[in-house]
Amino acid sequence: MLQMKKRGRVWHTIAGEPLTEMDKIIMGMERRGKKVPHRGLIKTPEQIEGIRRAGVLNTQVLDHVAAHIRAGMSTEDINTLVHDYTTAHGGIPAPLNYEGFPKSVCTSVNEVVCHGIPDADEILEEGDIINVDVTTILDGYYADASRMFVIGQTTAQKQKLVDVAKECLEVGIAACRPYCFVGDIGYEIAKHAHKNGFTVVRDLCGHGVGNAFHEDPDIVHYGKRGTGMLLVPGMVFTIEPMVNMGDWHVFVDEDDGWTVVTEDELPSAQWEHTLLMTDEGVEILTY
Ligand code: MF3
Ligand code: CO
Ligand code: CO
Repeated sequence: MLQMKKRGRVWHTIAGEPLTEMDKIIMGMERRGKKVPHRGLIKTPEQIEGIRRAGVLNTQVLDHVAAHIRAGMSTEDINTLVHDYTTAHGGIPAPLNYEGFPKSVCTSVNEVVCHGIPDADEILEEGDIINVDVTTILDGYYADASRMFVIGQTTAQKQKLVDVAKECLEVGIAACRPYCFVGDIGYEIAKHAHKNGFTVVRDLCGHGVGNAFHEDPDIVHYGKRGTGMLLVPGMVFTIEPMVNMGDWHVFVDEDDGWTVVTEDELPSAQWEHTLLMTDEGVEILTY
């Protein structure tokens, strides 16, 4: 039977306090049927400071990887670099034991899209492209970012994939304005990937982050402008487009339950930043 359900208000004003400009905008959008955040997704100044500090360490970890990554190294060696550096600086690698993930970082080589598990038997070779995805917990706050590394020289087509994936993150960031929608970001990302002959993975997305590893909203990397959740000042989230050379379909390796691979086994590339929405625009917390 069809159920009638009253859609409750998501945005709650604070009793006795005058309406802020933000209250008015959010309430107006909610009246127009737009998806809006609840108050818990808007970080306090104290939380933002904590996430900012986690972001600084997370960037230092990625810089440490950048300084040491080379052909002949195993992805387990990258895990050791990340784990030891993070813990030596007072942080915790968030992936370790997260929903059973066995390592401290995700290392995704060539046709692996994301969530690759570091392995001593997986040796980096000239021409490989690898995503290293680092998430750091510092004093309880989370920051999440990833970069691609090209081992030596690769083919022109794989280099283009790496470059276009980075541009997709950049156009996504450029689309972020206060009170924009998640769909505004995804629209620009997919447009840029398609223009270059590539596709965008649909099964995995960016996410709210900061007080936990994965929070609302989902940041999808395709879609229509004006759809998805409204993004307001104080929200912290990732953009992390996965761009495929071939088809966008992916599957999860049955043996380990984690490794996401392109269905056609053509290469994939991904870059990720943690971002803070402000009144002026978006600030990258993982530079
Ligand atoms: N860092 C990934 C992300 O960008 C999530 C990895 S989950 C893990 O959201 F368990 F594989 F680490
Ligand atoms: Co990540
Ligand atoms: Co992420």
